[in-house]
Amino acid sequence: MDSTSIRQTFLEFFRSKQHEIVASAPMVIKNDPTLMFTNAGMNQFKDIFLGNREAKFKRIADTQKCLRVSGKHNDLEEVGHDTYHHTMFEMLGNWSFGDYFKKEAISWGWELLTEVLKIDKTRLYVTVFKGDETEGLSRDDDAFGYWKAMIPEEQILFGSKKDNFWEMGDTGPCGPCSEIHADIREDADRNKIPGASLVNTGNPFVIEIWNLVFIEFNRQSDGKLVPLPDKHVDTGMGFERLCMVLQGKKSNYDTDVFQPIIQAIALKAGIEYSKDPKADIAMRVIADHLRAVAFAIADGQLPSNVKAGYVIRRILRRAVRYGYTFLGIKEPFLYRLLPVLVAQMGPFFPELIAQQKLINNVVREEEAAFMRTLSAGIQRFNNYVESVQNSKLKIQNLDSNFKTEQLIGSPTHQFTSSPAISGAFAFELYDTFGFPIDLTQLMAREFGWTVDMEGFKKGLEEQKARSRQDATLDASDWTVLVSDAGMSEFKGYDMLETNSRITKFRMVTTKGREHYHIVLDKTPFYAESVVR
Ligand code: SER
Repeated sequence: MDSTSIRQTFLEFFRSKQHEIVASAPMVIKNDPTLMFTNAGMNQFKDIFLGNREAKFKRIADTQKCLRVSGKHNDLEEVGHDTYHHTMFEMLGNWSFGDYFKKEAISWGWELLTEVLKIDKTRLYVTVFKGDETEGLSRDDDAFGYWKAMIPEEQILFGSKKDNFWEMGDTGPCGPCSEIHADIREDADRNKIPGASLVNTGNPFVIEIWNLVFIEFNRQSDGKLVPLPDKHVDTGMGFERLCMVLQGKKSNYDTDVFQPIIQAIALKAGIEYSKDPKADIAMRVIADHLRAVAFAIADGQLPSNVKAGYVIRRILRRAVRYGYTFLGIKEPFLYRLLPVLVAQMGPFFPELIAQQKLINNVVREEEAAFMRTLSAGIQRFNNYVESVQNSKLKIQNLDSNFKTEQLIGSPTHQFTSSPAISGAFAFELYDTFGFPIDLTQLMAREFGWTVDMEGFKKGLEEQKARSRQDATLDASDWTVLVSDAGMSEFKGYDMLETNSRITKFRMVTTKGREHYHIVLDKTPFYAESVVR
């Protein structure tokens, strides 16, 4: 079954159970101060759960674009290094707003997986909340009872609050949950070690595919759980993982969701996928990050130096650096992969097609800007590591009380068993070479090093204080969206209204306030000319 049919089968199944099929909400969130990006299918329904908004439909199903790169749900570090985490992923979900509850959610979930999608029942395990004394929550015997009526007890496991009580963030709707895990190992391995013992242990072949959450509480900011006016169902199934299970693959990246992009990267790099582990990681990171960046831009979040925009910039730069270091790609390339992604996902997510040009231009400009400093930054980083290592050697060879800084001129170098990049140097990489701090941390980790984060933050604070102090105009580079735009056309003489395109923009900070300069191809603003 290809991924398009899998998505469609899910939606059709819930349509047949009287669910309204709705579109994914944007991945970028503009009106919730507790979240930057949609991190779960339920985000868009938060107000319904809380009783602040009436549900238009009592039952809904969809596939939701999610991004888990910040806050409570952050999978960035695992992405690419393992085979089943992503920054951006699709979450298939069905919801009941004060309508059906555990019984139907559980039996329909089982019916879809085992009868419609025909997953072998003996390969599935389910987990049930075992209760939590400190929270005053009892064991979920209802859920246990419904599962027991359908599957052998050996396949039902009890889990703690960590895995079986789902919360969207520090506050908000939450409740006990029941997860469904699939064991995709070979029979020989299954005979040796029972799948039940591998559930929730980080085994890449015994993984959670679906989470059925029974929303009953609101977690308040004082930590208290307050019962909600109604009981609701919120389920989320990892689409890419489901595709892996149904397509008989051992990695999400081997499914038809990712393979076209991976193959395009392999072609560009001239390196075959699945030949060299380091190159493979890089290809997976790039394939994953391309999706995150493209969808974020399509949903209105451009890369920038602040907040959500900086998250997107960091993801993009991370992808560029993996391509540069591990695949030897020394020129902008991400934007060239975009047509592959659009051909594949555009039919279901038309925003990708509608915004393709914008995504293309923004990504190309971002890549080009970062490429300009990347190689110099990497060189600088390598020199730094080498100089510290050499100094360390010298220190070891000297039978004296020389102070570290006398040898290498920086008081923050550390010669402990786990060496650290000094905060000042990490800040220099950030400030001069545009290296997001997590990129520096990543590179440090590749050498088994850490980064002095306190020192880095100090550098950052000092810089902020300096710019506050002089309150000068701090402008980022222009991001050119239309490279052959020419001069702006003044339309103010004969038009009161017209459509216009932004041809370039940049962010400026004045007196600590951020705003944007934009240049339009058609403008109502009359520029005063200066006679020389
Ligand atoms: N909210 C739950 C999750 O994100 C189920 O949709 O896992």
